[in-house]
Formats: sequence, C-alpha cells, structure tokens
Amino acid sequence: MTTAASLTGKPQVEGFFDPATWTVTYVVHNGPGSACAIVDSVLDYDPKSGRTRTISADKVIAFVQDHQLTVEWILETHAHADHLSAAPYLKKHLGGQIAIGDQITRVQKVFKGIFNLEPEFKLDGSQFDVLLKDEQAFRIGELHARVMAVPGHTPACVAYQVGDAVFVGDTLFMPDVGTARCDFPGGDAQTLYASTRKILDLPPQTRLFMCHDYPPNDRPVAFETTVAEQRASNIHVHDGVSQAQFVEMRTQRDATLEMPVLILPAVQINIRAGDMPPQEQNGTAYLKIPINAL
Ligand SMILES: [Fe+2]
Repeated sequence: MTTAASLTGKPQVEGFFDPATWTVTYVVHNGPGSACAIVDSVLDYDPKSGRTRTISADKVIAFVQDHQLTVEWILETHAHADHLSAAPYLKKHLGGQIAIGDQITRVQKVFKGIFNLEPEFKLDGSQFDVLLKDEQAFRIGELHARVMAVPGHTPACVAYQVGDAVFVGDTLFMPDVGTARCDFPGGDAQTLYASTRKILDLPPQTRLFMCHDYPPNDRPVAFETTVAEQRASNIHVHDGVSQAQFVEMRTQRDATLEMPVLILPAVQINIRAGDMPPQEQNGTAYLKIPINAL
C-alpha cells in the first residue's frame, strides 16, 4: 500500500477563492510546463435568473494556459451541495479526465430518488470518466498521488494526497472554523470523526488545503494549514476531543444549520459530473425543486 510517508514531492498549489460560494478551486502542478490536476472547480450560477457564467472557471483556464500546464485530471472531492462543478467546461477547453470517489454511486442512488430523475439516469457513476477507489494510487505527470476515502460529510467524500499536500474536501475547515456538517443524506458524524483522524494521522508538516473557508470576524480568507496546526487548534477535532464529544457537538450544531442556498441545483448537476439535465423538447434544460422532500 502507498503510505503517506512514501509520497515524496512538494507540488506547487494555486488556490482560487470564489467569494460567492466560499469555495476554493486548486490547480496542483510541478512547475511551468508540467502536468496538473484541477480540484473542485466552480461554475458560477445565479439562482435568481437560473443563469450560469464561467468567470471563475476562466480564471483557472487562464492560469493553466499562462503556465503551459497540461491538465491530466479534473478531480472532485465529492458531489458538492454549495456550488456547481465546472468540470465539463474545463474538460472541453483544457482536456483531462473527470474523476470522483467510487462511492458516488450511493449518492446518485439517494438523489435519483429524491429528484425522481429520468429512468435513463444511470447509478453506476458512468457520467464521470474515472471512479477512484480508496487508497488508489495515480500520477499527475511526475507527481505521485493517492486517494483517501474520508466519508462522513457525504458517503462518497474523498481527499487527494499529492506529495506532501492533501486536498481535504469537506472534512476539515480552517482550525478556527472546524469541520463540515454531517446532516445531508448519507452523512454521519461518527464516520466524519474517523475520517478527520485519518487525515490528522499524516505527518505533522503535511500541507492541508481546504475546499472552503468561512472566515470568522475579520480574519482574511485562508485555506492552507498543516496537520500539526489542526491537531493543536481545530475547534472541533483538536487532539483530545473524543468521538463521543465530537458527535454530540456536530449533531447539535447541524440541527441549527439551514440548507445551503444552492443545494438543489448543485446536487442535481454535480451527480451528473457537472452536466446539465437533458434538454426538453424546446431545447431548454430544467432543474427540479422537490417540495417537502429534503
Ligand atoms: Fe460539501
């Protein structure tokens, strides 16, 4: 098995923060002219008008082109509930394979039911180019990477380790923000606790890159930290917090949280690997809003 210690290399990581959804998209690469992966891209979506835009994705495209990078992978850490994925748009312009954790099929099954999707909607993850297994090793050019299953926020969440950098998805947030919610369908606080420990068992100097930042008070946006910093000061899972304490805190807190603004559009599109639903006879694609179902 590939272990964290054996993943040598210190990739370069560029983060793009989207203030509309608090999401960070990453380009991880090995210097100008190298191969790269894009992690957790954002397609801008205005829920008031139902219009999409590509301002965020175009910034990523410009960076990739400016640095003459070759996109090998367009990675998703999970089916996001707070933003739409720009994976198909990026693939069209830059190439690369769209990949997600193989447990996405479980998320597809739940939401096919909730949204009563068309019978043709497949539950085998085939909307994605590649389904990645827990502990699967892969390459980004010269860089060595591996998949870490980190369920809890959703049953299909994965983190990606590339050299000494880990893209944690929605497991950990910055130390002063804590952890992700566990109350979506298939979420589980006990499971998330175990996943956070899996990440925090990596070497202390491991760089951790958050998928989101929700800065409290006047703190500027930040999205990079280390295992050592999280173990010392994460408000939810610093060393010494037991699983039982975490589950109690997480469950109480989740009961107070509203649904994310974009959960209904985001999930419908993200379980299709970022594609829109099939167009109707008039050439327009529509999203559904299930009443009293979520
Ligand atoms: Fe999420």
